Amino acid sequence: MFHFVLLAMALNYHTVGNAEVITSPFSDKHCPGFFYKDTEPKNLMPQSFARICQRFNNKYRFATMYDRQNHIPVYSAYVYQAGNSNRIGWLIEPQLVGNSYNKEMEDEVLTTIDRNLLRASQALDDDYKDTKYDRGHINPSLHHNDPDDSMSTFTLTNIVPQNATLNQGAWRHYEEDTIKHQAADCTRTYAIVGAIPGNNYISKGRVNVPAYIWAAACCTLQNGGMKAWAVIADNSGINRVDPITLADLEKKLSTHPTRPVHLFHTDCPKNTLIKFST
Ligand SMILES: *[C@@H]1O[C@H](CO)[C@@H](O)[C@H](O)[C@H]1NC(C)=O
Repeated sequence: MFHFVLLAMALNYHTVGNAEVITSPFSDKHCPGFFYKDTEPKNLMPQSFARICQRFNNKYRFATMYDRQNHIPVYSAYVYQAGNSNRIGWLIEPQLVGNSYNKEMEDEVLTTIDRNLLRASQALDDDYKDTKYDRGHINPSLHHNDPDDSMSTFTLTNIVPQNATLNQGAWRHYEEDTIKHQAADCTRTYAIVGAIPGNNYISKGRVNVPAYIWAAACCTLQNGGMKAWAVIADNSGINRVDPITLADLEKKLSTHPTRPVHLFHTDCPKNTLIKFST
């Protein structure tokens, strides 16, 4: 049984391409630049996943671990820069359909990919229609000062059903103000934002509604040191974002006792609890 499962997994992942949906861990060779010391989180992969090196307008923009069953990201990783949101239509990831497809994200309205194939591989814009949830960004559009970087966050592989009050309230406050305040003395801030799946779904079970949404960051300081912090928000109808230590967040993300989650390279301190400015 065990061998069968391993074999099935190996076959499954070999059918996934070797380019923008990548089979190797994110590293200095695969999708470099988005993780501190190019180290991807340890043990943070769902049963069926795709690593997407998010490419838009001929450039890699950020990295996403995509949950192929729940049709939501597990996390997106990027370098934080205070910026403005630049909007574009909703985008999709052709490579989730198959590795012979375009290596760049495409506009869902303009793509020529067969609608059923597309729908089978990922969440689409209309999955979110007529639900009470916002299309909540994991990597936020306003954390980028390059307009193309910002537009690339509108891929639905970077979106989760998020409580609208939270998305436009406490979470927005974290995205706009708290992180800016925290990152003020950082020379480079590596952010990882993610979602913990819950028991509810939208669109007839197609898209999971996360129980929690979390954000973590690790930065290099002007004085040569390191700093890290994390927050978590209950997505079930509480408009609140709580500070949490990286160590406690990792515990919450670990689903198996012998496979603990480590979000960042070991240089990042784990026990800081931030105070919110307001
Ligand atoms: C979202 O949260 C608010 C409170 O912050 C709550 O009143 C509302 O019912 C929630 N929406 C959903 C869809 O759960």
